[in-house]
Amino acid sequence: MSDPAVHSTLITGIGELTTNDPGLGRLTDAAIVFDSHVRWVGPASSAPAADERIDVAGRAVLPGWVDSHTHLLFAGDRTAEFEARMAGQAYTAGGIAVTVGATREASDDDLLVNLHKHVAEAAHQGTTTVETKTGYGLTVADEVRSARIAAGVVDEVTFLGAHLVPADVDKDAYVSLVAGMMLDAVVPYARWADVFCERGAFDEDESRTVLEAAAARGLGLRVHGNQLGEGPGVRLAVELGAASVDHCTYLSDADVEALSRSRTVATLLPACDLSTRQPLAPGRRLLDAGATIALASNCNPGSSYTTSMAFNVAIAVLQMGLTVEEAVAAATLGGAKALRRSDVGHLGVGARADVHVLEAPSATHLAYRPGVPLTHAVWREGRQVR
Ligand code: NIG
Repeated sequence: MSDPAVHSTLITGIGELTTNDPGLGRLTDAAIVFDSHVRWVGPASSAPAADERIDVAGRAVLPGWVDSHTHLLFAGDRTAEFEARMAGQAYTAGGIAVTVGATREASDDDLLVNLHKHVAEAAHQGTTTVETKTGYGLTVADEVRSARIAAGVVDEVTFLGAHLVPADVDKDAYVSLVAGMMLDAVVPYARWADVFCERGAFDEDESRTVLEAAAARGLGLRVHGNQLGEGPGVRLAVELGAASVDHCTYLSDADVEALSRSRTVATLLPACDLSTRQPLAPGRRLLDAGATIALASNCNPGSSYTTSMAFNVAIAVLQMGLTVEEAVAAATLGGAKALRRSDVGHLGVGARADVHVLEAPSATHLAYRPGVPLTHAVWREGRQVR
């Protein structure tokens, strides 16, 4: 069945197995066999043998979370900004400049340790795929440094030189730099390019300039759009064939319609909406219109300082009107689609063996018991990480 040189694991006694595989769906009293990849899935009664057998005693099993939107290359702290926000101050994204200052000051080692710390924290909670962005450097040297450090730790690196125009830099000159020399220097380390297309950050033309330059260099596209108000972000992302447009908090009917007709995934960031005291993105409306959605943590020190995908799933169920099944799919398979990956986000035969065992009999407990740490065990590519 599997390569005999490779250690295989049989998990049996699964109370509820979410596979996200169209042919398998959700199974009860199930078993799964994997080495680095899934080799067999089916009823416990017909499970084949493996090198190791683990009985999970009725617990639920899911694919590992796919967190397709984080900003983990940072240093410093923005607790004071958070406290001011809770006291009534609006989130404007202006605090990005504070993190840029701290990040430029930090050593490579400081950035690496901080990145590892957050990736490990996420893995401990069942996250097995993490995308992360540059965007707190904003000079050629600082952006390249962030991308290089990120590429040594995660396999999905996004270049976000167009996060904010640094203080004392002319905007047109900065857009030219990002779309030219900065992009050229970062390309070896990045798979994606992203732009913060928002009033106060980059307008439609500026965003288009950066995204088209990135596409010409072979990078896939992502867009931060419609976070603080309606705007051109969604429309531009769809027009340019971006893999994902992220935030989508304020959407017109035309935006929803455009997303529903496209391959561009609407990545929703409910913890960010809560932390910035914005309305929640219209997840139900998007699903009803036929759009593909993902849920992600947006972990960053300003607008959403959490690595918890389970928290995002709980909000999506409790406040956005998603079913548990829809929310779990969005946080696994949806994230994979937002990263244009077919090897993660599901547990069909051949998938990477990213397996998340819950300390609960069903995925429903993720919303039924919000805030409770429900991860029992985690395997990433067949290796147990928790
Ligand atoms: O996705 N919106 C832009 N970027 C981040 C926030 C970054 C920050 O406030 O530091 C986001 O929310």
